[in-house]
Amino acid sequence: MTQSHCLELKSSIASSSDPNEQTSDFLNDVLTGLSQPNKELHCKYFYDELGSQLFDQICELPEYYPTRTESSIMRADADAICQHIGEGAVLVEYGSGSSTKTRQLLDHLVDQQAYLPVDISDEHLLRTADQLRLDYPELKITPIVADFTVGFDIPAAYRDTPITVYFPGSTIGNLPPDAAVKLLTEIAKQCQLGGGLLIGFDLDKSPEKLIAAYDDSTGVTAKFNLNLLNRINRELDGNFDMENFSHVAIYNEEHTRIEIYIESCIEQTVAIGEIEIKFAEGERIFTEYSHKYSIDQFQAMAGRAGFAADAVWTDDNELFAVMHLSVK
Ligand code: SAH
Ligand code: AVI
Repeated sequence: MTQSHCLELKSSIASSSDPNEQTSDFLNDVLTGLSQPNKELHCKYFYDELGSQLFDQICELPEYYPTRTESSIMRADADAICQHIGEGAVLVEYGSGSSTKTRQLLDHLVDQQAYLPVDISDEHLLRTADQLRLDYPELKITPIVADFTVGFDIPAAYRDTPITVYFPGSTIGNLPPDAAVKLLTEIAKQCQLGGGLLIGFDLDKSPEKLIAAYDDSTGVTAKFNLNLLNRINRELDGNFDMENFSHVAIYNEEHTRIEIYIESCIEQTVAIGEIEIKFAEGERIFTEYSHKYSIDQFQAMAGRAGFAADAVWTDDNELFAVMHLSVK
């Protein structure tokens, strides 16, 4: 993927790349990923318009405990969390989605200067920002359409201001640990002028509870995963037949992570434009990791990126954690 630049537009939308460039990145990444001996597709491509809606449905599932648990922590500890962030915050949110949990911060922060939600799912981000503007008319809201794994510029108006990065949802767990350290190192650069990082991450727990959360009984997570093939059909002229693929979620105990795959139910050949991709029966496409950490493991990982933990909040069942960190 090419390095993109952030523009500040009149409508106060900052955008990082044009749609044609995004489509060709998607095509290149898909063809590269499906040409490997172990086929793979990057999880950031889950989030087209339908994928973002399906993720919102996942958040409502009884089996998917992370969202409601993190929300309960944010509700219960909003005052203490906001004290750590301090007054006059410029809040930059990584992978903001529907910005639901963020509302706890927007309701409790004192003299907040601005909110900059960053997300790859452009329409979903801009619609959410419009709704937030109605609900928080006094707040300056500048959505940034960007791939945070590539990098983006903080708009010039805030470049010399302490930045608080908010990174909820355990989205950091979707990156392998080395990539997570790399991203946290970039975040540390953004908030080194006296800002900080507020991050949510999922704690390790029983395989049964984890598998239920990632292979739910109503099949919403399966739809979310398989939507990636639908997206290839829609945007890249593919001809995947959804009937011939299935969703697989396993727990890898050694790496304490959920692994998600799309499995080919039969031997088949699929076309993407002019390119043909062969699948053996039972062959899998790797689509997502979701790493689960202990508090100590996460603290050590953030330490490698130059952060020191100031405070951590969890729920009574220790399912999920929210940590505030400062640059060392
Ligand atoms: N923060 C929300 C949403 C989490 S879902 C919550 O806690 O519920 C993950 C979000 O990150 C999605 O909105 C997705 O579009 C976004 N995302 C995933 N990979 C991304 C990337 N590489 N760059 C920017 N946004 C990304
Ligand atoms: C966004 N991310 C943290 C979710 C997770 O739990 O890893 C994505 C997800 N994949 C399947 N269900 C939810």
